[in-house]
Amino acid sequence: MKNRMIIILLSIVVILLVASAIVFIAGGIFSNPKYVEPWKKSYSKKFDDPRIQLAAHGILAANGHNMQPWKIKLDADKDVFYLFADSEHLTKEVDPFARQTMITQGTFLEYVRVAGEKLGYETNIVLFPDGEYDEQNLAGSMNNKPVAKITLTKVEPKNSVLYDFMFLPDTNRAAYQKTQLTSDQIKQLIAINTDKDMTIKIFQDKENIKKLGNYAVKGAEIESSIHRINQESSNIFRSNEYKKNKYRYGFSVEGQGTTGIMKYVMQGLITLVPSINNEKNSADIYVKSTQMVVDNTPAYVMIITKDNSRIEQVKSGMLYSRLILTAHSLGFVMQPPSQVLEEYTEMKEQYNKIHSNYAPKDSTIQMFLRMGKPTQEFPQSMRRDVMDLVDGK
Ligand SMILES: Cc1cc2nc3c(=O)[nH]c(=O)nc-3n(C[C@H](O)[C@H](O)[C@H](O)COP(=O)(O)O)c2cc1C
Repeated sequence: MKNRMIIILLSIVVILLVASAIVFIAGGIFSNPKYVEPWKKSYSKKFDDPRIQLAAHGILAANGHNMQPWKIKLDADKDVFYLFADSEHLTKEVDPFARQTMITQGTFLEYVRVAGEKLGYETNIVLFPDGEYDEQNLAGSMNNKPVAKITLTKVEPKNSVLYDFMFLPDTNRAAYQKTQLTSDQIKQLIAINTDKDMTIKIFQDKENIKKLGNYAVKGAEIESSIHRINQESSNIFRSNEYKKNKYRYGFSVEGQGTTGIMKYVMQGLITLVPSINNEKNSADIYVKSTQMVVDNTPAYVMIITKDNSRIEQVKSGMLYSRLILTAHSLGFVMQPPSQVLEEYTEMKEQYNKIHSNYAPKDSTIQMFLRMGKPTQEFPQSMRRDVMDLVDGK
C-alpha cells in the first residue's frame, strides 16, 4: 500500500516536471534573446561607419506599435545618410493616414541627434529634402522620398546629459506613484520646445486628470471592440522567444511588464494554447488595465501642433523623444494611450471631442500621454538589427 502511494506521488511529480518543461521550452527559455542586443551600450561600437553607429541609437526610440518603420540609405558621400519610412511596416487600421508612422520618424531622428552629440558629430537634419509626399500615392512616396537627409560634421564629443537615458525602456504601462511634477520640473519640460508651431501642455489638476483618464478608457473600449484592429495587433504579436528573435518588431508579453520566469510561463502557455489570448480575453484585459493605470496617473501631457503637415508630425516625434529623455532624467516615465487620437471612423466622435476641448481651432494633438514616477521597472522591448534597416545592403 505504502509503495503504491509512493509510485503515484512520484508519477505526479514526473508528470508536473514534464509539463513544466514543455511549457518552458515552448516559451523559448533556452533561446538567446538577440532581439534586445541593440539596447547594449556596446552595440553601436560593432560598426565602423558612424552613420550606422548613429542609426543603432535611433532604433532605440519609441515607435508606434513597435513597428520600427525605418529604412536607411547610405550616400556615396560618407558624411550623408537618408532616413525613409518603411512602407512595409505600417499599421493601416490604427494609423490610416500614417501620422503615427511620421511621428515615429521624428523619434528616431532625435535619438540620432543626441547620439551625435555624444559621439562627436553635429547632425544637420533636413526634413523632406526632395519635397513632401504625394498623399494619393503614400506608399510609393515613402519608398521614393526621404523623410530626412542627415549630414554629419565631425566636432568635439560633448558630455550629453540625455545620452544615458536612451538606453532605458521608453514606455511604462504600469501604475504610477501619486507624486506630481513640481513647477520647476514643469518649466523644464515645457522649455524643451523652442518651436513656435508646437506646444507642450501639462495637466495635473483633478478635473483634467479625470476627464483625460476617461478619454483613455473610452479609447481603449472603442478600439478593443473593433475586430479588424484586433486582428492587426494579433498579427504582430510575437508569442515566444523564437518569434521574437525571428521578427524583432511588433508586440510581446514584455509590453505588459511581464519579465523573469513568468515571461516564459506566459509565452509557453500562449504558444501551446493560443485561445488563452483570444480576442475577447485580450479586450477585457486591455480595458481593465487601462482603467487601473488611469486610476494611478498623476499627470497627462499633450504635444499639439499648429497644423498637421508631415513636417509637423515628424517634428512632434522629435519633441516626443526629447520629452522622454528629459522626463527620464527627472525620474519620470510615460505611456501614450493614443487611441483617441487615431483617425478611423469609429473613433471620430472621441477624436473630435478631445480636440474641441483641448486643442485650439485647426490644431492637432499629436501625442497624448500619461506621466508619473514608476511603481515598477519595465523591460526593454524588441529591436531589429540595425543592418536590416540599411537599404540595398
Ligand atoms: C506615435 C506613437 C504612438 C504610440 N501609441 C501607444 C499606445 O497607444 N499605447 C501604448 O501603450 N504605447 C504606445 N506607444 C509606445 C510604443 O508602443 C512603444 O514605443 C513601442 O512598443 C516600443 O516600446 P518601448 O517604447 O518601450 O521601447 C506609442 C509610441 C509612438 C511613438
